[in-house]
Amino acid sequence: MTALVRQIFSPVVDVTGLRAHFPVLARLAYLNAGTDGPLASAARDAAAQELERELHDGRSQAHFERRAELTDGLRSAYADALGCDPSDVALTTCTTEGIAQTIGGLELAPGTEILTSDEEHPGLLGALAAVRSLRGVEIREAPLADLADAVGPKTSLVACSHVGWMSGSLAPAELAEIDVPVLLDGAQGVGAIDLDVHALGCDAYAGAGQKWLCGPDGTGMLYVSPALRERLAVWRRGYGNLADPQAGLDARVHDDARRFDTPALNAETVAGALSGIGVLASAGWPAVHERAVSLAARLAELLAERGREPAPRGPSTLVSFPSSDPPGEHARLVENGVVLRTIPGRPWLRASVGAWNDEDDLDRLLGTLFR
Ligand SMILES: Cc1ncc(COP(=O)(O)O)c(C=O)c1O
Repeated sequence: MTALVRQIFSPVVDVTGLRAHFPVLARLAYLNAGTDGPLASAARDAAAQELERELHDGRSQAHFERRAELTDGLRSAYADALGCDPSDVALTTCTTEGIAQTIGGLELAPGTEILTSDEEHPGLLGALAAVRSLRGVEIREAPLADLADAVGPKTSLVACSHVGWMSGSLAPAELAEIDVPVLLDGAQGVGAIDLDVHALGCDAYAGAGQKWLCGPDGTGMLYVSPALRERLAVWRRGYGNLADPQAGLDARVHDDARRFDTPALNAETVAGALSGIGVLASAGWPAVHERAVSLAARLAELLAERGREPAPRGPSTLVSFPSSDPPGEHARLVENGVVLRTIPGRPWLRASVGAWNDEDDLDRLLGTLFR
């Protein structure tokens, strides 16, 4: 497709309308969704409405029915974002939780190996360190781009980012072809870019609700394929993830991915998460993804033209660029109302570009950097 044809046929976001949902954007060039997305007024209202109800009606049977209704809705919304069936999605409180459930649940034997990349986030590294020290599992690292070729005879799992948090590079498509299970850390994937867990060929995908889906903190999801589901031990069992909680010690976990649900999601958080997704969905997901990825690419181009070539990246929404003084420059940006982050151990600043950002946000960033 030529650029012109793409322009004609691409869905377009009503940027002014979308930005109006997020009060923070009126004040700041908010380029930080890779940490936490902007919150929508509607999300605050939805959460407040649930709290009001709880305040006045108390929390009895009707409250738990309302909670169930909300969590069903959130599961379906996450399933839409992941491109899978709701019955394959568990509700978690964050990406880290879904990763830990998957890696811990495999109960791998000592001496087996998990293959990962050399640019992973503590949310994955923590779970890898845990199975190494608690179960004697070996952890081997290879560059993200080479992971499919690096699979060896001892590899029991490949666990890596879908979109790398440091530079915005993408996991190699060849991972869909390998014959060991693949767990993708989707913290920087879901909500940010087009996503279909079946096309990715992964067996598990852990994602965040608070980043690119603009939900409150304490929200997230875990996709697990039906085949892998049966292999994962579930140590955390209680009312929420049991099919027949009244059966006492004989109670069984749910047949579907609900068995991995986090035990206690509150109604206000879930309502806020649903509202945030609703705002983005009403702008149109394909348009939201297209705009974010192309605006990020534009920022990368503008930085490169000015001598700050970003770190090698993929078609994602993260742009990490060199800085001779990351903390100092970060502080100057904050003073000028530009919110982004430093990357530990790298001489970089990272901008997270969403469909809600506009050219003025990029100008404010560039204006401060190149003053
Ligand atoms: C790639 C990656 N993985 C995991 C995490 C941890 O996410 P959460 O706070 O949802 O557990 C992050 C957070 O920034 C991340 O970027």
